[in-house]
Amino acid sequence: MQHFISLENLNIEVIRELIEDAISFKKRNAYPNLSNHYISNLFFENSTRTKLSFEMAEKKTGMEIIYFDAESSSIKKGETLYDTVKTLNSIGVECFVIRHWEDRFYENLISKFDVPIINAGDGCGDHPTQSLLDLITIQEEFGEFRDLNVVIVGDVVHSRVAHSDAKILQRLGANISFATPEFWRDSTMTMGRYTTIDEAIPKADVVMLLRNQNERHSQQYDEGNFLSLYGLTKERASNMKAHSIIMHPAPINRGVEIDEDLIESPKSRIFTQMTNGVFARISVLNYVFNS
Ligand code: CP
Repeated sequence: MQHFISLENLNIEVIRELIEDAISFKKRNAYPNLSNHYISNLFFENSTRTKLSFEMAEKKTGMEIIYFDAESSSIKKGETLYDTVKTLNSIGVECFVIRHWEDRFYENLISKFDVPIINAGDGCGDHPTQSLLDLITIQEEFGEFRDLNVVIVGDVVHSRVAHSDAKILQRLGANISFATPEFWRDSTMTMGRYTTIDEAIPKADVVMLLRNQNERHSQQYDEGNFLSLYGLTKERASNMKAHSIIMHPAPINRGVEIDEDLIESPKSRIFTQMTNGVFARISVLNYVFNS
């Protein structure tokens, strides 16, 4: 049994295996059999992709899903996350996929439970299964990570995707840069250099856009002018290299981070990322139970 909290504490060989397994599950349309396990998805922040692609992964591996809805649960009566997990574990749930608004929510859980805890996004901290699906998408496209130029664009300071992706891509040998407004820089992100989107685009192999995390902002910004000042316009996209790709974890603020017309353009891998999310999560479920 393993927890799956962050890619930071996994060695590169394990991460490469997770990627290879996911690509193999996708190609072969064949999945590990986890039909003897009960699992619950505990989401305390909204989600469409992560929650439902975990559910798809759980169904494809034959797992029994014990449904949990935070709004109608006893969390609303003040029950803690620990007591919620303890309760579900007591009635037989053997794995927890948790998204929570608190950074590092898992610290109070991982030493106390000997069933897998999977981080489906903690506050502004980490989003390791999103990182894994991003890595799968890049590997499918380029075959390797070493020396790829990846520019991470937008709301870096509030984005758990940026935090997770920058760290693992650097470990895998990619060159990271950040093209972000001054007010969304993150002084802790020292693995890449800060640049402007106009400077970065012509050099980038991967243009990785971020969602503006409006629910985490304490100060307003000029959303109306964001695209022209900091986002991926059609004009900027025309300066991309022939082989370079556009990624975005979604949900997308259409016309804010990216011009609407680019979302389903030939360079976009945004919906491929979503497809890969299912296989990334199958790979993670296989890892937590079978390694
Ligand atoms: N990319 C991502 O985490 O999307 P959701 O918030 O919809 O899960």
